[in-house]
Amino acid sequence: MAQINQIITELNEKDFNLFREVIYRESGINLSPMKKALVQSRLMRRMRELQIRDFNEYYEYLNENYDDERIHLINCITTNKTDFFREAGHFDYMKNEVLPRYVKENRKSIRIWSAGCSTGEEPYTIAISLLEFFKDKTLPDIKILATDIDTKVLETAMEGTYKEETVKVVDKEVLRRYALKGVGKNAGYYRMKDSVKKMIYFKRLNLLADTFPLKNKFDIIFCRNVVIYFDRNSQVKLFKQFYNYLNNDGYLFIGHSETLTSVSNLFQFRGRSVYGKVL
Ligand SMILES: C[S@@+](CC[C@H](N)C(=O)[O-])C[C@H]1O[C@@H](n2cnc3c(N)ncnc32)[C@H](O)[C@@H]1O
Repeated sequence: MAQINQIITELNEKDFNLFREVIYRESGINLSPMKKALVQSRLMRRMRELQIRDFNEYYEYLNENYDDERIHLINCITTNKTDFFREAGHFDYMKNEVLPRYVKENRKSIRIWSAGCSTGEEPYTIAISLLEFFKDKTLPDIKILATDIDTKVLETAMEGTYKEETVKVVDKEVLRRYALKGVGKNAGYYRMKDSVKKMIYFKRLNLLADTFPLKNKFDIIFCRNVVIYFDRNSQVKLFKQFYNYLNNDGYLFIGHSETLTSVSNLFQFRGRSVYGKVL
């Protein structure tokens, strides 16, 4: 292993641009020239697995095995940082504004999309928040679609097992209700209970695809900390799609450090990084 590490050549400008183009075309992720060192180290991991020593040789391998290898390439490049109850204000907003409204309206079903769900902390937080809110009320039919382009993070999300360190932000009592504490060889881990898992449907979906294989609209869409990696055109295209997939009285949650100003005038501000449709 160490031997191959030493032999791998440096990623030159020309090869970097070749990979950049494929990555952009496949995922919308727009890598600036400053990201060359990052791309080099991420690609090296994959090249070691394949025992390939040269970036150009890997580019050829990619083209020869395009359908399978493009998935691995994108898996190496995505940034998957996430947390339970990340940007907690959104879950307070759901609890204080959105869900009381749904109770008043006597909603029978709630459909939610976690777009760019990474390793699952976001959709599980959504599910837990809803179950907590409805625990002494009639539970509507809740379905959460959780999608990501990265197949590796989706595997972790589907497994639904997290280190104690990862779930420590979740209130202990709440965690006890919705996750099982591992014992024996599983000590130090928590596994989401089936009652939570069954609310979530995980699927690979590229947010930059021209069409999405989705039939129904959503009441709530979460797309947080995903579009920061897209250029403006890709963002404009995606928010048009979200507009079409959101019910007229729906809510769109974006990352706290993101904004729709200058990207989309299809949405109006409702609260901190929470938007509704302009009708
Ligand atoms: C930084 S994580 C954010 C996770 C979560 N939404 C949160 O805020 O904690 C960004 C996720 O977006 C996904 N992603 C990037 N480009 C994508 C695309 N074109 N289609 C779908 N998902 C994408 C990445 O794989 C990654 O898991």
